[in-house]
Amino acid sequence: MANRITLTQFIIEQQRELPGVSGTFTLLLNDIVTACKKISHLVNQGDLIGVLGSAESENVQGEVQKKMDIITNDIMINALNWTGHLAGMASEEVDDIIKIPDQYPKGKYLALFDPLDGSSNIDINLTVGTIFSILRCREGIDPTLEDFLQKGCDQVCAGFVLYGPSTMMILTTGHGVNGFTLDQDIGEFILTHPNMTIPDETSEFAINISNQRFWEAPVQQYIDECLQGKEGPRGKNFNMRWVASLVAEVYRILTRGGVFLYPLDMRDPSKPGKLRLMYEANPVGFIIEQAGGVCSTGRERILDIKPTDLHQRVPVILGSKSEVDRIVKYHRQG
Ligand code: AHG
Ligand code: MN
Ligand code: MN
Repeated sequence: MANRITLTQFIIEQQRELPGVSGTFTLLLNDIVTACKKISHLVNQGDLIGVLGSAESENVQGEVQKKMDIITNDIMINALNWTGHLAGMASEEVDDIIKIPDQYPKGKYLALFDPLDGSSNIDINLTVGTIFSILRCREGIDPTLEDFLQKGCDQVCAGFVLYGPSTMMILTTGHGVNGFTLDQDIGEFILTHPNMTIPDETSEFAINISNQRFWEAPVQQYIDECLQGKEGPRGKNFNMRWVASLVAEVYRILTRGGVFLYPLDMRDPSKPGKLRLMYEANPVGFIIEQAGGVCSTGRERILDIKPTDLHQRVPVILGSKSEVDRIVKYHRQG
């Protein structure tokens, strides 16, 4: 018991090693932790408190919102907008950037988040999560959209919280990836998974195969070769998973390796893929790279993309290095 390291202790100790990082960052992270603990509690209570089901409204991306999409978005905003640690926010569920109300001081960071990832799973009691990305912002300014449109490689910190059988936070500040499990009895995240690294040897892929007819040739080739198993060019059998929660897929890959694809999709030319760059692909990409994996569109490194829009979508291929490298090679050849 004595040597259990809490998330706060871990961050303060890590912060001491980082030049130019102040105590504000620890406080900001604590704000996010508080919000995620509230969300964890609500997710756990579920229909006991009537929070499941559809809200019968649409977000900016035309997706039908669940009640919990709206509730979790409000929790994040209300936990972060008054503390003085942020200059602004952005959320999957909000069209424009979210300003800090005039009466509150402004800090030097920007927070972007997907308050409830995998929300189609909420009504069937499967794992959902919260994803966040922290960017720096010039101090003392009222940020505009342009201030948010930073490349993923400039993130200060990225993380996600998984509301599964355990509630876990996975975090990187650019010095590896660490996993913390929420001890519900004392209300603290405890370091349980230090220095997470993605195993490179893998035979597991995750893709929504119902979209197969819309994929490009390189992805068709990769999946086809996996499906041929021992008798095919890969000479081994593959397993498949699809949880429909990015957070759950990424956690699985961090734990036992594998590859996840939400590739370019010919369904709708205005949507190159499904996942959103700024609050899904970038934070997850930062974590995957810090754990030794690769995160690509198939044609370029996700973290190198210069964003043009807060809610822009990108193809995402991530996971064990050798598998993603192979898929990128197929794109180059195609
Ligand atoms: P969100 O619930 O935040 O809109 O994200 C859902 C995403 C992602 O978590 C998951 O990988 C993917 O959508 C699932 O897509 P399908 O509906 O095609 O399975
Ligand atoms: Mn999401
Ligand atoms: Mn969401």
